[in-house]
Amino acid sequence: MAESLIIERVNHVVRLRLNRPTVLNALNFRLVRRLAKTLEELDQDDEVRVVIITGNKKSFAAGADIREMAEATTADLMAERYLSSWLRIRQFSKPLIAAVSGFALGGGCELALCCDLIVATETARFGQPEILLGIMPGAGGTQRLTRTLGKTKAMELILTGKSISAKEAFDYGLVNRVVSIDELETASLALAEEIAAKPPLAVRLAKQSILKAFDLSLEEALHFEQNNFALLFSTEDQREGMKAFIEKRKPHFKGK
Ligand code: CAA
Repeated sequence: MAESLIIERVNHVVRLRLNRPTVLNALNFRLVRRLAKTLEELDQDDEVRVVIITGNKKSFAAGADIREMAEATTADLMAERYLSSWLRIRQFSKPLIAAVSGFALGGGCELALCCDLIVATETARFGQPEILLGIMPGAGGTQRLTRTLGKTKAMELILTGKSISAKEAFDYGLVNRVVSIDELETASLALAEEIAAKPPLAVRLAKQSILKAFDLSLEEALHFEQNNFALLFSTEDQREGMKAFIEKRKPHFKGK
């Protein structure tokens, strides 16, 4: 049986390729668990600085696996192992880039929204069609789409189940870059490598600080930011970055 998740490494960047092409990369429980476990391992690997999640040309991921979900009970979906996989994906501390071509629907759209940056092809379509199946988004869609697009657009997408094009997603601020299908790999890798060349500890603390904008009050989040800012002054990379500026040379960051 082919691997449902293919792992490729390019220097400090890892690309995770969803690989269930016959079902448009539908996310069955096993694949979501595998993705969560892999991200947990990559989080512990100091050589890995940025992770790209991608699919194939036709589909990033067309949502949860409906055939599997059709048989699921409330108890299955409330089970710790289902919820904890999505939680573990959300907790990944390094930058995550979604490289999206084709369908990013339901759980697929939610997976892209779990990522910190999205590079999409002109053919990408984003949406939460769960309402058409008699359910609603269950992996963060009602919260992340609302925080990204605002209440008005999120209501429309989630209540009608209609999807939007990459251009619309870009105009709404959901997507960072729109490229042709042929450019997706190089464009997402270039963005990943650009970030991977930055000081890794500063990148991680900056990511965490940005995400706190959604969880804390402004006052609490500003304290969180200030503490992280101060913490970075105990790193070698801070000394190297500032020394290199003064010496008019390129810094060499080590993640220490
Ligand atoms: N689950 C299981 N199988 C899926 C699937 C899914 N989410 N999406 C597509 N497939 C399967 C199809 O059943 C089909 O299999 P067969 O060849 O065996 O019939 C194969 O993939 C190709 O799909 P289509 O023939 O339908 O391809 P298409 O190009 O005509 O249409 C599509 C593409 C519009 C994406 C359509 O497949 C579709 O609507 N898929 C379902 C999308 C959806 O509703 N996603 C939400 C799932 S619920 C969820 O995600 C809950 C959550 O929040 C976690």
